[in-house]
Amino acid sequence: MILRPKVRGFVCITAHPVGCAAHVQEQIDYVRSHGPISNGPKKALIIGASTGYGLATRIAAAFGSGAATFGVYYDRPSEEDRPATPGWYNTIAFERAARSAGLYARSLNGDAFSDAIKQQTVEAIRNELGAVDLVVYSLASPRRVHPRTGVIHKSVLKPVGLPYTNKTVDTDLGIVSDITIEPATEQEIADTVAVMGGEDWELWMQALQTAGLLAPGATSVAYSYIGPEVTWPIYRNGTIGLAKNDLERAARRIDALLDAHGHGRAFISVNKALVTQASSAIPVVPLYISVLYKVMKAQGTHEGCIEQIQRLFATQMYNGSSLALDDGGRVRLDDREMQPEVQRQVAALWPRITTETLAELTDIQGYRSEFLKLFGFGLAGVDYEADIDPHLKL
Ligand code: NAI
Repeated sequence: MILRPKVRGFVCITAHPVGCAAHVQEQIDYVRSHGPISNGPKKALIIGASTGYGLATRIAAAFGSGAATFGVYYDRPSEEDRPATPGWYNTIAFERAARSAGLYARSLNGDAFSDAIKQQTVEAIRNELGAVDLVVYSLASPRRVHPRTGVIHKSVLKPVGLPYTNKTVDTDLGIVSDITIEPATEQEIADTVAVMGGEDWELWMQALQTAGLLAPGATSVAYSYIGPEVTWPIYRNGTIGLAKNDLERAARRIDALLDAHGHGRAFISVNKALVTQASSAIPVVPLYISVLYKVMKAQGTHEGCIEQIQRLFATQMYNGSSLALDDGGRVRLDDREMQPEVQRQVAALWPRITTETLAELTDIQGYRSEFLKLFGFGLAGVDYEADIDPHLKL
């Protein structure tokens, strides 16, 4: 099969296995080039391990600290006439690279919200790995079947209270237009909190604790986003922001649980806005990211997922001293994004962006190439004319 990108709105419905492997390898090379992180994680469970921040975390743990990693993810394998989703190929590439480096790597593909996947994970960790010292919660999902009630909760990306109008971009067509999003209903808010809030993270930690699989002093981290005022109505003060507040509530409870268990800790890391499958679905945010990339690349401070997580490990979690926390008890990996000078430049460009000025004033090209890389397209050294087998198995 010769695979080409087929972009439909904010998704690409094809993925390239060789390109995905090259993308994973780029991240491994980045971590290795920074040398080992001493006192890093030894045994890590990553929930949401196949793409974006979760994959980068798994790579940093394995190739920066020699950690054994167990990854939970939800991806679709290839079918007769269509390739798999990128996380499927990424996971195969990661496992192959980890094993050839002599590292334990196991992954489970299934719904992390379900009791069945939690139980299977617990059993595999008990049988093969023993207690974990790091649990990373990096799920981004549009829906959750609640394990107790069976209710299907669907998350929405909407403002709360008032309608929100702002510019947005169709990243594929390069068209900038105004979008007005009506406020979420109470039910939609509750559903979004059920999907992207902290309850499932707590259920994971309880399952691991009950099974005796948390090492004394274990750490757990989940990822959040705050961003600038221009995106607050849709992010921080919107349905997803309320879900992230709930994630912070869960962090405090899990922190107390881990503290009582050999002085472990749990916390939220607020990360930078980056092109991932999850962020591309949020209105307005891809346009903000395109402007942000332009400003940060010019300033020389741009980072991707792997740079962010390498920095989280090296300068915060495993730096030999305590975490530097903000007033809300969060780690701020978005510090460079939120620098006043960066935000001043973004705010100055924002009103000038139109379809006509998009290419000049924003890094829409960089956005597009990062987006295609998520699906394994546009990687240096990959022969995209080659006929390749899309049916890879773990
Ligand atoms: P992503 O879409 O790249 O990754 C999501 C991961 O979750 C994938 O591995 C996917 O397989 C897995 N997943 C989704 N549903 C699942 C399910 N039911 N069962 C098992 N696995 C499932 O997303 P991204 O952007 O890396 O997001 C991860 C976290 O980072 C989220 O909490 C997000 O809010 C946060 N974050 C993202 C930022 C961004 O700009 N992309 C910025 C700051 C925080």
